[in-house]
Amino acid sequence: MSKVTIVDHPVVQHKLTKMRRTETATPQFRARLREIGALMAYESTRFLPVGRTPITTPVGPMDAPTAPVDELVIVAILRAGLGLVDGMLSVLTEARVGHIGLQRNPETLEAERYYFKLPPDLENHDVLLVDPMLATAHTAVDAVTMVKELGPRSLRFVALVAAPEGIATFHATHPDVPVITAAVDECLNDRAYIVPGLGDAGDRIFGTR
Ligand code: URA
Repeated sequence: MSKVTIVDHPVVQHKLTKMRRTETATPQFRARLREIGALMAYESTRFLPVGRTPITTPVGPMDAPTAPVDELVIVAILRAGLGLVDGMLSVLTEARVGHIGLQRNPETLEAERYYFKLPPDLENHDVLLVDPMLATAHTAVDAVTMVKELGPRSLRFVALVAAPEGIATFHATHPDVPVITAAVDECLNDRAYIVPGLGDAGDRIFGTR
């Protein structure tokens, strides 16, 4: 299994291009992110095992495919991760949702939780940890470490845009966690923004620029 899946579907790429444009305003940015969230939900759940259950259609009986979609947990890394949740939930309607807020202690440089609320019994759930931008990956690495402590059945990281440096840092600590992203861009700049990227995803989602 490849550790990085790039969702290169033309519709996803077209919508991502719209998001990248400087002139795309917050309502349109948010709407495209929601739509991409729905499309990424498909790609992020391809791994689900397919079982069979006997059903009866109006025409006759069959052994029909099923998947454990009610055992999915979407975990948003605050705050930009929130922008993907609605779109993913539009497809994964039975999923539960967790939230992780992290900030770095300026003295120790350790990641500290200011919010951490996940469903119980993660050992029986498949987690999709979401954040639109995998840049330095420091937050992503810490968030994965914290989720792993709860022993999820499986764990995947879903990003919209990733930097090569971020993927390398992420997999240096968590080589077992697949990354699903719509694009791997060129690099990070000296302010840790992804180039060409799309700017500050949180600001563009919430209009806080
Ligand atoms: N976070 C963002 O929102 N954008 C980047 O380019 C990097 C981190």
